[in-house]
Amino acid sequence: MRVAGCIFDLDGVLVDTARYHFLAWKRLADKLGIGFTEEDNERLKGVSRIDSLEIILQIGKLNIDKELKLEYATLKNNWYVEYISRMTPAEILPGSLEFIKELRAVGLPLGIGSASKNTPAILERIGISNLFDAVADGNLVSTAKPDPGVFLKAAELLGVNAADCVVFEDAIAGVKAALNAGMMCIGVGEAKVLSDAHFVVRGLNEMSLERLRIFEKEVRL
Ligand code: G6P
Ligand code: MG
Repeated sequence: MRVAGCIFDLDGVLVDTARYHFLAWKRLADKLGIGFTEEDNERLKGVSRIDSLEIILQIGKLNIDKELKLEYATLKNNWYVEYISRMTPAEILPGSLEFIKELRAVGLPLGIGSASKNTPAILERIGISNLFDAVADGNLVSTAKPDPGVFLKAAELLGVNAADCVVFEDAIAGVKAALNAGMMCIGVGEAKVLSDAHFVVRGLNEMSLERLRIFEKEVRL
């Protein structure tokens, strides 16, 4: 395979927003009297807003109607938006900018594939919107990872065949989505957690164009 397009998940790959999601969910869980830990929060990575709420309600064994669920999801999002509105470019994860700039220098099309409806706000806030040729996010695609929809949309917007794309993902559901899209997947995080990915790095600071070229030679899709 020869990589012709790169697609990045946002939360947990380019920027550490997981702690803001945690703080906002924790605030809601506290309000509802549900015990919610950082370990529980792992299960929410890559999962849509409403499905995340379902998991928390399940933990608390709480049954509520649809209307109230929407109300709680909105409440959580308002808190989350408040937290991310104070983010700075210093919160971009180490190595991300350097790697992206290296890819751009050789003209590789770059896209975002994220479930988050807050994607445009985060990209603006940390000042990296202009580095991407396409953004496929939760505003554009409603199916949730592990459905491949968001990555297929990103490839389509980039004008690159799915089989020629590589995805960078930190969530188990996201790795599955990339594989379901027929794409090469590089996990960003712990190898034992992301064992389905073709390769795993601990962060984008371990990536380079040279390493990508080595990976693409080894991968069998
Ligand atoms: C990403 C995050 C999830 C989050 C989802 C939806 O996948 O990893 O934790 O729930 O986006 O984000 P949103 O900003 O739309 O609530
Ligand atoms: Mg993620």
